[in-house]
Amino acid sequence: MAAPKVAVVGAGVVGLSTALCLVETCPSCSVTVLADQFSPNTTSDVAAGMLIPHTYPGTPIHVQKQWFKETFTYLFGISNSAEASEAGIHLISGWQIFKNAPKEELPFWSDVVLGFRSMSEAELQKFPQHRFGQAFTTLKCDCPPYLLWLEKRLKAAGAQMCTRKVAELWDLHSEYSVVVNCAGIGARQLAGDERLFPVRGQVLKVHAPWVKNFIRDGDGLTYIYPGVHRVTLGGTREEGSWNLSPHPGTTKAIFDRCCTLEPSLRGAQDIEVKVGLRPSRRCVRLQREVLSQGGVKLPVVHNYGHGSGGFSMHRGTAKEAARLVGECIAALQGSLSRAKL
Ligand SMILES: Cc1cc2nc3c(=O)[nH]c(=O)nc-3n(C[C@H](O)[C@H](O)[C@H](O)COP(=O)(O)OP(=O)(O)OC[C@H]3O[C@@H](n4cnc5c(N)ncnc54)[C@H](O)[C@@H]3O)c2cc1C
Ligand SMILES: *[C@@H]1O[C@H](CO)[C@@H](O)[C@H](O)[C@H]1NC(C)=O
Repeated sequence: MAAPKVAVVGAGVVGLSTALCLVETCPSCSVTVLADQFSPNTTSDVAAGMLIPHTYPGTPIHVQKQWFKETFTYLFGISNSAEASEAGIHLISGWQIFKNAPKEELPFWSDVVLGFRSMSEAELQKFPQHRFGQAFTTLKCDCPPYLLWLEKRLKAAGAQMCTRKVAELWDLHSEYSVVVNCAGIGARQLAGDERLFPVRGQVLKVHAPWVKNFIRDGDGLTYIYPGVHRVTLGGTREEGSWNLSPHPGTTKAIFDRCCTLEPSLRGAQDIEVKVGLRPSRRCVRLQREVLSQGGVKLPVVHNYGHGSGGFSMHRGTAKEAARLVGECIAALQGSLSRAKL
């Protein structure tokens, strides 16, 4: 069989990392990334890129832990290499703080991040309104640099990048033997999946290079995530909203909430406001499906619905998606050799 042609729809962190796993595990595959938006115009560019998982109620915890661990291990390797600055990956220490005792004393990811422990009384003095806290070291991706680094790796491995809006996955059947759907919130339309819904997030990216530690309120709403160049201040979680325009009142409210946790942010400069739609679902959809029309078949692998945790989980889900593509190719080769007999 000629080199199987695989199309990956989507150029956010999920599509690019899935395409990279594919070229790594299937060197004979010809991989094309198709997307209507590339960095810096995807949801993934808006994200803070912190590796702190959110729980998907519909996915078994041991699976989520495996995805997170694979992602953490992969990025930890990059952070310890000469690639770290170009890829925008760095270790970061900080605090997750709570007004009331946290629901889980030990979250499922506590032994994957480094040095997870309860905060000391002295540390808690920084946060007079909070009574409980967890300190740990995790990793952060600076989003546009990491996406550009993935694109560069893909091009070096011979993958094609193509700007194109896909109206229907079936439209790709005459050009590709397998299609991978990593369309983020776009999958609602592409896969006709009404269980996928947007959770709007507005954030500020500011210049405040003296802020070195992350701070996350356990309510998940207010956070301060320092990156290599900019600090991300958040945020909002608005279920069902498709509005991509920044809301000025929300910008002020986010800034005030963050200054309450970190008063030195009053001196922040060059405030930029961004909005993104988290592709949310009870669980990530990571499965094979065969589309068929008039006896013609198109194997599809879905990999979407990462919600608030696309960066935290991307490498683990990309590996699994690449494995499923391998199964599709094996099935195609099997049916071809049967046809020859
Ligand atoms: C404010 C905010 C902060 C966040 N912070 C974090 C964080 O700190 N840590 C974390 O882990 N996660 C975070 N997230 C979540 C994270 O951003 C998402 O989970 C992740 O970006 C999803 O990636 P994706 O590749 O699935 O989607 P996207 O980045 O949206 O990419 C989808 C791609 O599909 C393409 N596409 C869609 N439809 C079509 C079509 N019909 N034809 C062609 N192309 C199509 C798009 O153009 C795009 O290229 C945050 C999200 C927001 C909004
Ligand atoms: C991002 O969007 C802007 C504005 O629409 C456009 O000018 C630019 O070419 C886009 N960038 C990429 C890489 O597609």
